[in-house]
Amino acid sequence: MNKLLTAHPIVPVVVIERIEDAVPLAEALVAGGLPVLEVTLRTDAAIPGIKKIIKHVPEAIVGSGTVNNASQFSVSEEIGCQFIVSPGSTDELLDAARASSTPFLPGVSSASEVMRGLDYGFDCFKFFPAEAVGGTALLKSFQGPFSNVRFCATGGIGLHNVSDYLALKNVLSVGGSWITATDLVREKRWQEIELLAREAVATCKSSS
Ligand code: 3PG
Repeated sequence: MNKLLTAHPIVPVVVIERIEDAVPLAEALVAGGLPVLEVTLRTDAAIPGIKKIIKHVPEAIVGSGTVNNASQFSVSEEIGCQFIVSPGSTDELLDAARASSTPFLPGVSSASEVMRGLDYGFDCFKFFPAEAVGGTALLKSFQGPFSNVRFCATGGIGLHNVSDYLALKNVLSVGGSWITATDLVREKRWQEIELLAREAVATCKSSS
């Protein structure tokens, strides 16, 4: 997981409401320079949408997000997700992930959750919901006790603060929905999404 996130420091968090949107949305993100997609399992269209992206957009590296239990974890593996992300962590999910070879990014928002994840053998986490739980200040505080732990920060991140997160040595990447805002997807504004992706990539490059 660490390698993937280091190579791709911005991960768009995608909600697919209509199956027909999956491929053009993924194509726009790939064209804009963001091939790693976290497709959230929050809608009925998510699973068929992921399948379509895997089949028709081979440049995309697709993972499932909002994976809240072991059964969603197995479905994600079955359909060929290349990585799996959860907003938090339960023992059931951590057990399932430990027994699997699919890269997993468990969600954490506190020191105790990081420690539980470490006990299970994970050292890279989704820090969620980043802004609401303390943002960059909390991540900086984690650098002392958890010097080998790395994070993908998500929740409340946009163009205005992405550089602050990526400047931290324990942050490998950030995730967010600002590039794939609901209205843009509903109105099929693929070119704007591609431009937002390009803008995010440029901001990330200029801050590195
Ligand atoms: C997620 O599941 O990671 C969040 O919904 C993304 O957070 P954001 O919408 O604040 O970017």
